[in-house]
Amino acid sequence: MNIGILSDIHIDREHPEPNRVIEGLVNVIEQRGVAIMIIAGDIANDYERTLHTLHLIEELTEIRCLFVPGNHDIWNEKHPDKTSWEIYEALKAFSGNLVNGPVALPNGWTVIGDIGWYDYSFGSSQYPIEQFDQMEIDDRVWQDKIKTDWGKSTIEMHRYFFGKLETQLSAHRSRKIILVTHVLPLSDFTVQRPNRMWRYLNAFLGSKQYGELALKYSVAYSISGHVHDRLQQQCQKTVFICNCLNYASQWIENDDPVSEIARAFKTIEI
Ligand SMILES: [Fe+2]
Repeated sequence: MNIGILSDIHIDREHPEPNRVIEGLVNVIEQRGVAIMIIAGDIANDYERTLHTLHLIEELTEIRCLFVPGNHDIWNEKHPDKTSWEIYEALKAFSGNLVNGPVALPNGWTVIGDIGWYDYSFGSSQYPIEQFDQMEIDDRVWQDKIKTDWGKSTIEMHRYFFGKLETQLSAHRSRKIILVTHVLPLSDFTVQRPNRMWRYLNAFLGSKQYGELALKYSVAYSISGHVHDRLQQQCQKTVFICNCLNYASQWIENDDPVSEIARAFKTIEI
């Protein structure tokens, strides 16, 4: 069974032809015989657009799509009357949202996932926690500061998602596991050789604790997104994959969504 992996589609950002993004996804899913799709977050900056896109992908491909929200999906800039919790709940309307709970696949496999959050463990130790709490450096403001409203600190949010994932992993430890988070589980996946700004901003890319969790429960695959890169690394029994489509402006020498999706798309066979 082939599982397709792609994250950070950002269908509403800089893609002049969003329909071509959908067309590219449908093409590659059909061409590669994908039976199930996993999207590790950041479909759109508007949860209604995210839900619409997920339903459209399932309708056009006739395969099941599994998904975890990204930080952009729960931003409230388009819905300032809603908290991030209300948007997080609203996204549960999509049945393949792993926030609803683990999904069993054939042959002993289970997919577990949630957005995850960050605990600053990937940021440079030169900064105190209070400075990371500010979420801004020079003239750059980390947009989660403005567009998320959890009513809890970032570290409390990380602990919430970490605890929820560990409970599910523990309950399914006899299964072969695919773990999906939007945020990064490995420091090797953060921005390497960071300049001054990224020595600070790496703090908001994830937590090393998700990687430790993947290794503790010997998950087969740990899927993530968020950093807008395409990375793969094996540690012990776990294959870590971060596979982002990215903003169109980040594509190298290409402006066609269909060919870029074919280039970016990854499959794993279970
Ligand atoms: Fe993203």
